[in-house]
Amino acid sequence: MVYCFFFLAVKRMQRGFLFVNRTWWKETVVYQVYWRSFFDSDGDGYGDLEGVIQKLDYIQDLGAGVIWLNPCYESPDVDNGYDISDYYSVMEKAGDMNTLERLIRETHRRGMKLMMDVVLNHTSDQHPWFIDARSSKQSKYRDYYIWRDKPNNWRSYFTPSAWEFDEATEQYYFHSFAVQQPDLNWDNPELRQEMYRMLRFWLDKGVDGFRLDAIALLAKQENFPDSDEPENLSYLTNNPKLHDYLREMNEEVFSKYDIFTVGEAGFTTPEQGLLYVDERRRELNTIFHFQVLDEMPTWDLRRFQTIQTNWYETLKGRGWNSQFLNNHDHTRLVTRYGDDTRYRAESAKAFATMIHTLPGVPYIYQGEEIGMTGVRFDSIDDYHDVAMKNKYYEEVGKGHDPKDVFESLVKLSRDNSRTPMQWSSALNAGFSTGTPWIKVNPNYTSVNVEEDLKRPDSIYRYYQALIRLRKQYGVIVYGDFATIPYSDADVYVYTRRLGTERILVIVNFSLYEKRLAPIAEIALDKAQLLIGNYPEVAQPDTFRPFEARVYHLA
Ligand code: GLC
Repeated sequence: MVYCFFFLAVKRMQRGFLFVNRTWWKETVVYQVYWRSFFDSDGDGYGDLEGVIQKLDYIQDLGAGVIWLNPCYESPDVDNGYDISDYYSVMEKAGDMNTLERLIRETHRRGMKLMMDVVLNHTSDQHPWFIDARSSKQSKYRDYYIWRDKPNNWRSYFTPSAWEFDEATEQYYFHSFAVQQPDLNWDNPELRQEMYRMLRFWLDKGVDGFRLDAIALLAKQENFPDSDEPENLSYLTNNPKLHDYLREMNEEVFSKYDIFTVGEAGFTTPEQGLLYVDERRRELNTIFHFQVLDEMPTWDLRRFQTIQTNWYETLKGRGWNSQFLNNHDHTRLVTRYGDDTRYRAESAKAFATMIHTLPGVPYIYQGEEIGMTGVRFDSIDDYHDVAMKNKYYEEVGKGHDPKDVFESLVKLSRDNSRTPMQWSSALNAGFSTGTPWIKVNPNYTSVNVEEDLKRPDSIYRYYQALIRLRKQYGVIVYGDFATIPYSDADVYVYTRRLGTERILVIVNFSLYEKRLAPIAEIALDKAQLLIGNYPEVAQPDTFRPFEARVYHLA
């Protein structure tokens, strides 16, 4: 009887508040491969899956445990693969199904896992379902999409209206992104079953999880009421029924496999975020929230701290977070938040130190590990990003000066992070022997993998060391997180604690040297330095520009 109570109490603790289950995906580091810009194996100007296979050792050597592969399904490629016309095949630019299967095997052979990026919110307008659906109101697929006689006043992410008139049947269809990306109707149970079948197809092939594109958008507001603030697109996300769909998806698919899921969830607060990742709710493992990337155009440490603390406190003991400062949709971190000239290496490492020691799964976006920077092309014609181009023509169409419009879009254009991976100073940065689909960043002659690896202060090796530390010190993965209030608005000080183990992280996010006042009761000269981004520490209390250190405290 006593034993029984004890057993129940332990069970309750495991399920309940403040218990953290240990799993492989919490301990991993994810490396994102935007394959079309990674490595071109056949000289057609597009990176491809064979190219990813050829560079798997590079990713493995870095220490990443999971690869997130951007969508490579059949697609007219209006939005770089996020407009899928066949979920069951591979687009020609990327390769073919055999190559993808080989990629999965080769990834596994190296002890890594592969996560597919899947788009459940919309298809391409060239998907057979949509072609059939738009042909007649009686189509069996009509209800897979969303049709109305009249549009409301909502914008889409990429266009002035979220509705497009379709001549054939004289109704409007709904699209949260480009006109060529009609949204699916998740209210339809057959559609949902189709999607679960498709997810199982990939899992049965051996993929280890999904990055779920635009997942916060699956459920729509009933009756599409007009918005008082049409420019604020939050009406697209986190609507009722979303969590019913996710719970069903988990029950029907995810719960049957040992996989990792991360949902892309824009416009999501910590309280809303908890609904996705609370382990007791059985929906997703983690999400990407965008309170940093969408709301902090330039670096603001105080704001960042508040966001971190709020998320940590809300998810604590219940769900897991993600840590990232760039991806294929957001300008590279050294350009946006660090310094991409004089302190490029130092700032790259400073941010990496933070990302890899904050609570949550760290993500590395290809090229971040060598401090690749954003880009500036001279003309709108050099850009490919559908979001940027649509906005450009929309604003120019309203009569605004093309030069001003261009300038306003350049800094945050998604193409900042989509230029080819810079492998060497050879032709096209060693990315392709053909003409790259998008121009190479001209700084490739000095910023490239070969060059970085030659340097004693290599950024890649610093990332390697950070990843090694995470493997060595469980406290970095599982430890409690606490910010140490510090008066200097450029210096971030925090600890992680697990049992008797404690680490201390200090990062100076400024271009200036800082002399630190004593921090709590900690004697830096007695603490063990685990890693730092300057060759040696001459004065423990002095932090040079973008200096970062991680200490182990006895
Ligand atoms: C996500 C993707 C982005 C894409 C959009 C529409 O935000 O990351 O690249 O354009 O969804 O699918």
